[in-house]
Amino acid sequence: MQLIECRKMSKNYQNGQIETHVLKDINLIVNDNDFLGITGPSGSGKTTLMYVLSGLEKPTSGEVIMLDRNITQYSGQQLADLRKNQIGFVFQFYNLIPNLTVRENVLLALVIAKGKDESRVDQLLTMVGMAEFCNRYPNELSGGMQQRVAIARSLVNDPKIIFADEPTGNLDTVNGIEIMNLFHKLHTEQKRTIILVTHSDDYLKYCSRYIKLIDGKIVNDEVISV
Ligand SMILES: Nc1ncnc2c1ncn2[C@@H]1O[C@H](COP(=O)(O)OP(=O)(O)OP(=O)(O)O)[C@@H](O)[C@H]1O
Ligand SMILES: [Mg+2]
Repeated sequence: MQLIECRKMSKNYQNGQIETHVLKDINLIVNDNDFLGITGPSGSGKTTLMYVLSGLEKPTSGEVIMLDRNITQYSGQQLADLRKNQIGFVFQFYNLIPNLTVRENVLLALVIAKGKDESRVDQLLTMVGMAEFCNRYPNELSGGMQQRVAIARSLVNDPKIIFADEPTGNLDTVNGIEIMNLFHKLHTEQKRTIILVTHSDDYLKYCSRYIKLIDGKIVNDEVISV
């Protein structure tokens, strides 16, 4: 099933007199069974593409369709509602709140998402293998552990789609592989759609498909067979 579509989508940034053409005429369909890797050199537009696909940024031209809705002209509030109900985010830096415990960090996200069932916090921490560390503070955890908590946090609203921007960018290889295995599990066992930006071609084998961006254009779109 088709989940997100970009039609002739371009994105420019204007800084004073200087206009940067970041994404150029992107046509892309993301299906619900995709674990889509986005790769490409620094500055090629990976993060910007992720922001437009997730409704964090509006395109300068072209259209974005998500879940059969044309979100191109959505207001900030409509986009925020869509993100709150359908989308989870994971970033390179875990952005955990330092003076809250692991459990409190995930609970806060649940409260913000207006979730009522506190037991979900413990279920998610168990799922990411962090239940036994639930009373620790972020600075008492390794980077990989903090990222697992951030992944649990991204799941409080039971999102259909998870966007991850270089979630392994700050981790060593062992922790990076663990995090990729976790995303793989969210895709295969929980049937979530994953859209994941990565610098490292080594991690593409965890994806079901990848696109490569160069200079704001998709130069490659391949299904990965395992
Ligand atoms: N808010 C902004 N204002 C102006 N220019 C921007 C803005 N955000 C990104 N850019 C420019 O857009 C281009 C693409 O940036 P983007 O962050 O999407 O690249 P990236 O592929 O994610 O790079 P990296 O691998 O370094 O994270 C860069 O030239 C960047 O300077
Ligand atoms: Mg980036």
